[in-house]
Amino acid sequence: MKLKQLSLNNFRCLENKKIEFDPDFNLIYGKNGQGKTSLIEAVYFLATGKSFRTKKVKELTSYDKIRTIVYGSFESKLSGKTIAIDFNNDKKEYYVDKNKTKYIDYVGILNVISFIPEDIEIIIGNPSVRRGFFNYEISQTKNIYLKTLVDFEKILKTRNKLIKERKTNKELYHIYNEKFIEEGSKIILMRKEYVKNISRLLNLNYRKLFDANSELRLKYDSFIDNIDKMTLEEIKEKFREETVKKHDREKRYGYTLVGPQKEDFVFELNGKNAKAFSSQGEKKSIIFSLKIAEIDMLIKEKNEIPVFLIDDISSYFDEIRKNSILNYFKNKNIQCFITSTEKLDIEGKKIYIDKGRILSDE
Ligand SMILES: Nc1ncnc2c1ncn2[C@@H]1O[C@H](COP(=O)(O)OP(=O)(O)OP(=O)(O)O)[C@@H](O)[C@H]1O
Ligand SMILES: [Mg+2]
Repeated sequence: MKLKQLSLNNFRCLENKKIEFDPDFNLIYGKNGQGKTSLIEAVYFLATGKSFRTKKVKELTSYDKIRTIVYGSFESKLSGKTIAIDFNNDKKEYYVDKNKTKYIDYVGILNVISFIPEDIEIIIGNPSVRRGFFNYEISQTKNIYLKTLVDFEKILKTRNKLIKERKTNKELYHIYNEKFIEEGSKIILMRKEYVKNISRLLNLNYRKLFDANSELRLKYDSFIDNIDKMTLEEIKEKFREETVKKHDREKRYGYTLVGPQKEDFVFELNGKNAKAFSSQGEKKSIIFSLKIAEIDMLIKEKNEIPVFLIDDISSYFDEIRKNSILNYFKNKNIQCFITSTEKLDIEGKKIYIDKGRILSDE
C-alpha cells in the first residue's frame, strides 16, 4: 500500500495542509518539538482511528479547537481509495470513498505498522499492554478476530454483572456462561495460531538483522496449559473445566477469574524472558524484528504490504544498522515514513517541519 496524499485539519500543532508523499521514502526532519512525530501520528490515526502515543484521542485535536479531520488517499493492490475520519467533540465518523462506514469495517483498509520509542512497553509493560498490542495486530490480519473480541467483551461484562448480583444459579447466567466459553475459546485458538506463525518469523528476522546466533521466541501464556496441539473443541472443554474449578472463587470475588482477558505473551531470547534479562539494545531489536514480522504476516494473510512508520530512527540504530534497515524496506518495496532530527542522506521525499509548518524541499 502506498499513501499518496494526506490532508490535515486541526491535528495537534500542525498547520492545515494537504501533503503529497513519495511511494518509497519520506523523511520528516526538523528540530525537537516541531511536529515530526505528530505528522506520522496523523498517518497512524487515519489508518486506525487511534494514536500510538496516547489513549486519549482528544489530545490530537489542536488546542482551542473541537473538530479534527484527516483525509487520505492511497493505492493498494486492488484499487485506489480515499478514507477520512471526522472527529468532532468525542464523536468519530469514518468514511471510505466518501461513504460513512462503521469502525469495524474501516480498520484494516489502510494497513500501517509503526515503530516508536514507546513500543519498548510491549516488552517491559504489564500484560494488558501486550494483550492490547496483539489484539490489535491479530485484528489487522483477521477481521473476524476483532468481531469475536468485541462480542466477547460484551459477554464478559454481562457475566461479571451476573456474578456480582449473585445470579449464577439463574438460567440467564448459564446462557451467558456458554457464550463466554464459546467466544473465549475462539479467541484462544486464533491467538495460539497467530503466535505460532509470528514466533517463527520473529526468530528469522532477529537472526537475519541482528544476531545470527540467537534464538528468539514468542510464547503464548494462556490460562489453559499445553494448548499447542489442542483443537477448538478441546480448548472449549478445558475452558469449561476451568470455569467450574473457579466457580466458588468467582462468587466470592464477585467477578470473572478465568478467560482470555487474563492471558499474557512472553518474549524469550535464548531461553530467557526478555523482560527480565535482555539489554536495552536487545529489547529494541526484538521489537523491531516483531514489527518486521507483522509485515510478513500481513503479506501472508492479506497479500498487502503495509505502510511503515519509524519515529526517531537515530535513537534506535547506529549508522550501519540504519542503512541495512533502509535497504531492507527498499528491497521489499515498502513505503516508509521516517522522522529524524537530522536531515539524513536518503533518496525520497524530504519534509521539513518548523513549528508545525510543513515544508517540502525538492
Ligand atoms: N493538541 C495539540 N495542539 C497543539 N500543539 C500540540 C498539541 N499536542 C501537542 N502539541 C505540541 O506539538 C509540538 C510538537 O510535538 P511532536 O511530538 O510532534 O514534536 P517532534 O518534532 O516529534 O519533537 P521531538 O524531536 O522532540 O520528538 C510540541 O511542542 C507539543 O507541545
Ligand atoms: Mg518526536
